[in-house]
Amino acid sequence: MTEKTGKEELRELARGLRRRVEFGDVEWSAGSARASERAAAPGEALAAAPGGVGAALEGLASQVEACRKCPLGSRRLRAVFGVGSSAAEVVFVGEGPGFEEDHRGEPFVGRSGQLLDRILESIGLSRKTVYIANIVKCHPMVDASDPEKRGNDRPPAPEEIAACRGYLDRQLSLIAPRVIVTLGAVAARVLLGPGEPITRIRGRWRQYAPEGLGRALKLLPTFHPAALLRNPALKKDVWTDMKALREELAQSAPE
Ligand code: URA
Repeated sequence: MTEKTGKEELRELARGLRRRVEFGDVEWSAGSARASERAAAPGEALAAAPGGVGAALEGLASQVEACRKCPLGSRRLRAVFGVGSSAAEVVFVGEGPGFEEDHRGEPFVGRSGQLLDRILESIGLSRKTVYIANIVKCHPMVDASDPEKRGNDRPPAPEEIAACRGYLDRQLSLIAPRVIVTLGAVAARVLLGPGEPITRIRGRWRQYAPEGLGRALKLLPTFHPAALLRNPALKKDVWTDMKALREELAQSAPE
């Protein structure tokens, strides 16, 4: 396999940010190509990852698969654990799976996911070089009896978040990325605690110490891609945040 690792990609950025930023004009759209054509199959990138982190993540994914700590576990079609490189320098954290993710078992594969792919591409990243996960791993549905119904999504409830929280902390501790990027208000609130609204905290560097890691990681809150689909005026703020992320990665890239 000759696929670039996250570190190689960061070295490339550090060598003068030569990669052309195709979407610097902030014309991101959800794109026409299906995310599945670009995405690593679940587990594929992890299996290829060096060392024990990939194996530990796979073990954790099996626990999530069997998890019934909250009612979501017995209602969803597929658990949505995470996708990407176990050596990722950046972990993106969303809220929870929706219809497409529930059917495919992979995070961010619907319209929001296609937009997220474009956002990643614009700063020289991809879903194979970063890691993408959610606060909750199972689809929170308004009507749990009908997983085939579209638009049947709701935010996760506090007890569902509490039941799932340990899995995300473990993912973050194992990967130990340079930066966590939270996507949207729910992910920011869960990791940073309740406080100011997302409109006020986005783009401001924070820290989060995942349970078990013993140190804090840098965290950058930004808007959720779904918010950009609803309100394209927010794209310029996310573009500002992605440039800040790119700068941070270039500065802290290992030689
Ligand atoms: N929205 C999220 O927050 N996560 C997904 O995986 C998909 C959509």
